[in-house]
Amino acid sequence: NGAVITIPVVVHVIYSNATQNISQAQIQSQIDVLNEDFRRTNSDRDNTWSQAADMQIEFCLAQVDPNGNPTNGITRKASSVTSWNTTQNRMKSSATGGTDPWDTTQYLNMWTVSALNSNGRPGILGYAQFPGGNRATDGVVMGYNYFGRVGAVSAPFDGGRTTTHEVGHFLGLRHIWGDGPCGADDFVADTPESDASNGGCQIGSVSCGSVDMVQNYMDYSDDACMNLFTAGQKARMRANLLNGGFHAAL
Ligand code: ARG
Ligand code: ZN
Ligand code: CA
Repeated sequence: NGAVITIPVVVHVIYSNATQNISQAQIQSQIDVLNEDFRRTNSDRDNTWSQAADMQIEFCLAQVDPNGNPTNGITRKASSVTSWNTTQNRMKSSATGGTDPWDTTQYLNMWTVSALNSNGRPGILGYAQFPGGNRATDGVVMGYNYFGRVGAVSAPFDGGRTTTHEVGHFLGLRHIWGDGPCGADDFVADTPESDASNGGCQIGSVSCGSVDMVQNYMDYSDDACMNLFTAGQKARMRANLLNGGFHAAL
């Protein structure tokens, strides 16, 4: 609990065709989703889990750039790259064909790109760097079609929840199943144990002796199936914000 924390965001759009050069409306729709999901004002919230909480974290497109000039919080860059490797972070540096971050202690940097692969494996929706990582590569990256909820978005990941999930990682959340079998910890006490991710919308799925929280943003459910972070996840994210290297909101 405490004050609402507002995080300034810069979105770096890197595109290899006109469709990928997403509209300001698509970008704003992602900011809207983040604000709804992190304040629990999302219209699909329900009362299935009493641990569900308001994170008291808000997001806004930056209005001042690192040089002190007015900005809409969006940068745009054309590139011939049609898929970016998540292990290389090349989209995060102009020296490797991407866009340099704005001061990562002051802004949450988001990059949208043509597509993502993990050492050649395609189909990655997005990825994030955890707190405490290299300042030069801090932020979140999403495929352009998994960013926002209007415009060039692809079902069933067309509700902006990929970015909600990645910002959860950026603020220190692990996957809800702890990335391991029963007993693997996500370091959050009020999320039920689970033995693996759930895809689609497996409501009622049971593992490790309890019902899985498939509605949590940190599972792998479809966007329309997710609707909550918990009070325990709130404590973890806010502690990371208040104690970490990210100063913008403070
Ligand atoms: N890092 C995950 C992936 O790339 C993101 C999962 C997001 N899930 C969602 N429903 N949007 O697969
Ligand atoms: Zn994840
Ligand atoms: Ca847990």
